[in-house]
Amino acid sequence: MKIILGITGGIAAYKAAELLRLLRGRDADVEVVMTEAATRFVAPLTFEALSGKPVHSDQWQGMAHIDLSRGADAILIAPATADFISKIAYGRADDLLSALCLARECPLHIAPAMNRMMWENPATRRNMRLAKADGVILHGPDDGIQACGESGPGRMMEPVEIAERLFSFLAPKYLNGKKFLITAGPTVEAIDPVRAITNFSSGKMGYALARAAIDAGASVILVSGPTALRPPSGAEFIPVVSAIEMREAVMARIREADVFASVAAVADYRVANASGIKIKKEGSLTLELVPNPDILAEVANLENAPFCLGFAAETDHLVEHAEEKMLRKKVDMLAANLVEDAMGLDTNEIVLLTPVGRRILARTSKQEIAAELVREIANELDLR
Ligand code: PMT
Repeated sequence: MKIILGITGGIAAYKAAELLRLLRGRDADVEVVMTEAATRFVAPLTFEALSGKPVHSDQWQGMAHIDLSRGADAILIAPATADFISKIAYGRADDLLSALCLARECPLHIAPAMNRMMWENPATRRNMRLAKADGVILHGPDDGIQACGESGPGRMMEPVEIAERLFSFLAPKYLNGKKFLITAGPTVEAIDPVRAITNFSSGKMGYALARAAIDAGASVILVSGPTALRPPSGAEFIPVVSAIEMREAVMARIREADVFASVAAVADYRVANASGIKIKKEGSLTLELVPNPDILAEVANLENAPFCLGFAAETDHLVEHAEEKMLRKKVDMLAANLVEDAMGLDTNEIVLLTPVGRRILARTSKQEIAAELVREIANELDLR
């Protein structure tokens, strides 16, 4: 994927360094173009180091204004100042970046950043209307504290969200019209109002799958146990705590789903007689545990069940245990991973089981693994 990252002269230019890192992290080939004003906020060397390429700002270097955007999948201007937005709106081309925007065949994305009064000024409102009418895609701005100390609309959207939205926009939409219900994270089973039994699932795998399904055009309901993660933008998010709550949330919505992906590390047991008040420390304590409902097995055994992707987290005999689970729970596809390779990490390695065989998804980021799982599901549903 080839992306032109345009940086204009505002204080948020420093955030473009993080944005560039995120784009490169998803293997995008990024050319950085800075306006002269932007180079006064952050030195081009920062972006050269992060992109591994020279930064462009000279309008008089041959046919750079045409050559650079040739074959680009998108131009992303972040931050886009009020002044630069006015140039886009009126089709001006008096520097390299604005000339590139005019001489392009790819979509133009902008992440505005400016003082709230500039954002609210009728001239900027008018320029934004013109730009949007010409098909410019807007990301933000956010509301909040600004560099000048004021508070209001005009902060640049956070780089992580801009990157997420851009990749989502660019991904092929072969799951359009399909609905995924995904569980993620751990469940937390109360012992009393203070203590609980839980596990080390971070939610990263399930959230990555939600992101990948959204990117491919699916609508996603994400039912999640407690995690420290930000829900993926575009997902309908249903937070739960215990396995019983997770089951209720899933069963309430499962009829809408074409695909059920059970990534959550659901606690197999809960405390039979959880106390309503804090248990006092008095010698040893015995807890009676009772089995939790098996949500995946229940869904997979429904009449007209959705396509079911199960996971298996094992510490040993990975394939053996996973094959047994696949048969017992009657799922269509099962992603088997070793706990030490998967839990809490940003990467994973999977043995993918289908009724016709098995495939190894070699160690890579959970986002890449998730994208591959989504492609596999689409193949099974004959959508690719
Ligand atoms: O969250 P991360 O830190 O990113 O880690 C990812 C992960 C290791 C949690 C994930 O990749 C994974 O393997 N999830 C499944 C964990 C699990 O509970 O495995 P299991 O083998 O115990 O369960 C098998 C399947 O049944 C799973 O799809 C599980 O969601 C489901 N299940 C299990 C028990 C239960 N009561 N209800 C269920 O639906």
